Amino acid sequence: MSDLHIVILAAGKGTRMRSAIPKVLHRVAGLTLIEHVLRCAAAAKPKSIVVVVGHHGDMVRSELARWADVNVAVQEPQLGTGHALLQAEPFLADARGTVVMLSADAPLFRPQTLAALVRRHDEQTAAATVVTAIVDHADGYGRIVRENGEIAAIVEHRDASPTVREIREINSSIYAFELAPLFDALRSLGAQNEQAEYYLPDLVKIYRSRGLRVATLTPDDAREVLGVNSRKELADMSTMMNATKNDALMAAGVTIIDPATTWIEPDVIVGSDTIIHPNVYLEGKTTIGSGCEIHSGVRVVNSVVGDRVVVNNYCVILESRVLDGAQVGPFAHVRPDSVIGQDVRIGNFVELKKTVLGRGSKANHLTYLGDATIGEKVNVGAGTITCNYDGIAKHKTIIEDGAFIGSDSQLIAPVRVGHGAYVAAGSTITDDVPPGALAIARSRQVNKEGRAKARKKKL
Ligand code: UD1
Ligand code: CA
Repeated sequence: MSDLHIVILAAGKGTRMRSAIPKVLHRVAGLTLIEHVLRCAAAAKPKSIVVVVGHHGDMVRSELARWADVNVAVQEPQLGTGHALLQAEPFLADARGTVVMLSADAPLFRPQTLAALVRRHDEQTAAATVVTAIVDHADGYGRIVRENGEIAAIVEHRDASPTVREIREINSSIYAFELAPLFDALRSLGAQNEQAEYYLPDLVKIYRSRGLRVATLTPDDAREVLGVNSRKELADMSTMMNATKNDALMAAGVTIIDPATTWIEPDVIVGSDTIIHPNVYLEGKTTIGSGCEIHSGVRVVNSVVGDRVVVNNYCVILESRVLDGAQVGPFAHVRPDSVIGQDVRIGNFVELKKTVLGRGSKANHLTYLGDATIGEKVNVGAGTITCNYDGIAKHKTIIEDGAFIGSDSQLIAPVRVGHGAYVAAGSTITDDVPPGALAIARSRQVNKEGRAKARKKKL
């Protein structure tokens, strides 16, 4: 097999998005459009990737900074797709073999189909291979005009006669090209068309007239080549990708009660026999184990949830770990770098931040635990607050195994509550509590006999 290079066009304006940010930076299924395409490109392990940027090029370039080994070519001004591809020449001047061109706004194209395109292109010893699709509504697309079954030309919708407009086979704008004749041919493109642009599809005619072979590949599923041009198409694309992900999870043994309202991003893993209720959002690099139940309104981002975990309604779990058998919520807020240990119970209106709870511990109601390390079998009473911030720095609270924190206590960090210690309800703990000790830190109660009655009389 010859060398493979990939060029991704991302210079266009995306006018129909009506957006201050370039179209290819809009997100679908948690990733920008261009990231989906880069993932597909990277999966093919090409010798090089060139992205052609133009409109808001700096914004696109900063998105690409996270991708090592991606070359950026600038197309300024944007004079059409043929002109765009020509801007990649400096990076490919010494290259040989095949270049596959992808559009940064078509995120469904799969690595398997890219491989099939390269195979077809090689088998046919073609100079160009065009990926086409048969669609019901071809408006706006370039049409594939065939003669004796062979592709003869691509005619843009704007330039097409009524007869050509009847054709339902369209150009996907994804191609494989032999590098050798490509750039010279691109330089010979004219711009005598409705938009006065240098149209890449015009290469087909040029190649045919020069006796160079042009082949086609038509994937079974036309949706693979769909591009996003408007917010409506962005939403449709989200729905489509989400359905694909949910279908795969259901096939693998996950119960999704209402797939239409369950949004699961592509990298998420879910174990079998987990039940996911409506309106759940699982995002980023999240893993959910087996036999879990995730109730309505839950959002989990970049987190690892073990087996047999119950997350009750309306919890938010961010960049944290929840170990096997734990129960969380309803209405819990688990902020980054927290670890909810095995069989731990986190109840309603509990907020955790950078807090670790050991096996079997409980914080069941109305509590804030921040920068805290909590041992095993600790009971944190209702309304407990770690006062971790003094206005300047954050401080740590340590609660050792088996300690009991009475309700409505404040723990003024830095502070340590020793093994098996007991903090009386309503205490404000400013000093360490030794292991096994009882700490009471509240003012004494005074009862004034008869005063209540006297007060009532006055009123
Ligand atoms: C293009 C094809 C059309 C095909 C359709 C498939 C041309 C002339 N037409 O039309 O045959 O059916 O895609 O979706 O190629 N771009 C640049 N620089 C430019 C112009 C465009 O980088 O100067 C990029 C855009 O960012 C986009 C891609 O090229 O990623 C396609 O451009 P677009 O203007 O959307 O072409 P279409 O009119 O959709
Ligand atoms: Ca387009």
